[in-house]
Amino acid sequence: MLIEIDRWLSPGRGGKIWRMTTTTGFTDFAERHRARLLAELTEFLTIPSVSTLPEHAADCRTAAKWVAGHLKELGCPTVKMLGDRGGHPIVWAEGPRVPGRPTVLVYGHYDVQPPDPIDEWHSPPFTPTVVDGRLVARGASDDKGQVYCLLKAFEASRGPDGRPPLNIRFLIEGEEESGSKTLTNLLAKEPERTRADAVLVCDVPYVAPGWPAVYTALRGMCYAEITVRTLASDLHSGLYGGAAPNAHETLVRLLSQLKGPNGRIRIEGLYDDVQRPSRAELAAWKRLPFRERKFLRDEIRAKALTGVQRASVLERLWALPTFEIHGIAGGFTGTGAKTVIPAQATAKVSLRLVPNQKEKKVQRLVASQLKRLAPKWADVRVRFVHGADPIQVDTSPPVFTLVDQAFREVVGRGATPIRSGGSIPIVPALGRSGAPVVLTGIGLPDDGLHAPNEKLTLQQLWDGIAVFARLFELVGSDE
Ligand code: BES
Ligand code: MN
Ligand code: MN
Repeated sequence: MLIEIDRWLSPGRGGKIWRMTTTTGFTDFAERHRARLLAELTEFLTIPSVSTLPEHAADCRTAAKWVAGHLKELGCPTVKMLGDRGGHPIVWAEGPRVPGRPTVLVYGHYDVQPPDPIDEWHSPPFTPTVVDGRLVARGASDDKGQVYCLLKAFEASRGPDGRPPLNIRFLIEGEEESGSKTLTNLLAKEPERTRADAVLVCDVPYVAPGWPAVYTALRGMCYAEITVRTLASDLHSGLYGGAAPNAHETLVRLLSQLKGPNGRIRIEGLYDDVQRPSRAELAAWKRLPFRERKFLRDEIRAKALTGVQRASVLERLWALPTFEIHGIAGGFTGTGAKTVIPAQATAKVSLRLVPNQKEKKVQRLVASQLKRLAPKWADVRVRFVHGADPIQVDTSPPVFTLVDQAFREVVGRGATPIRSGGSIPIVPALGRSGAPVVLTGIGLPDDGLHAPNEKLTLQQLWDGIAVFARLFELVGSDE
């Protein structure tokens, strides 16, 4: 069947193009059920499951229950809510047993990032709104919309008797955006839950519209709070200014010593384990549809790019560690003016880590660097909040050929291997049993993850349901 696709689906080519697709039962599943699917996803997105804010703990539970209820309705004989008290529940489900068929473990997260700054949303973040074929809501793309896509792919893949084409497990957690502690503990205690022929993680975007991706590496993370105390209590800045040590000044000087003007991070030993991408990989990145000027104009929207100038932009994003300051608290920031010397200041910072770095080692390097830099008048403390090791994925196992085929049949293009600068903390644990981990997804680069007006392009969802239903069928029928 020939389908006309718009110019925007085909970057770099003018006019209309035509693509071949096979009509599987799966493409019309979404067509036939569109209104219901949109209503269901809207219901899911309405729940403000912000995992990092304690006042939303009940909402996280509601979102978990929504997922669990849905999986029961889809005919999963085992559906459980797991985890520790104090954490957000993990939804575990097993599909009906299909003897002799492979097992796929599906991972995703129902928690979302805080919606602030609220004023910048054109519609309320938890009132999903369709504008120009895009569903706008917090979590639309990261990751509720993608979790929902997999639930529906499972639904679509079942035969007339309700029997799925393979054995399927779902592991849907509620702390991905805040470090995955509960799931880390669960998998340490019960590693057999990850036993599968393949793990499918659907929480990332395409390379570009019409251009699916499969990820070969994600960065890790080391998130920390640095607190500087210089005084027993705040002081009058007139009476004591000039002689008393200022906590904010001390903190800001300290932070500024952690990165040079050339973008290089000044933490001793930090680059020792950084592995350069291979020549072949660097060459492949040059062939991607990445244009620095367009990236600056459409995604970054700033006056200039920063960072290590001798490295290409993709290398800076995908293969080099970062150091970012997220916020500085303390002192006086209210309306008007207050003349005070603050006694204490705290910065939230993080480093992104790249293949071969290790979170634990980086924590030690950060702590020793701060010790070296701390002036004698300051008490400097660091608290590590959460983190993750970076990951690298070998995409040679046969399941990747099937992923490629499913995308090719439905979207008209296979999955291009790329990396991302983002992190998914639980991925190393998901792969520990030896199952290949497929990192892919249905997002688009302009989805606005973690930002105001996050969206999911609905066509991506309709296509995605067909892609993953077909993938389940292909994996199930694989010899
Ligand atoms: N889905 C993202 C990660 C992502 C996005 C990877 C795009 C690759 C491409 C995930 O939900 C996320 O935001 N992770 C956090 C993890 C952190 C809180 C430990 C991140 O990367 O900041
Ligand atoms: Mn995510
Ligand atoms: Mn996220």
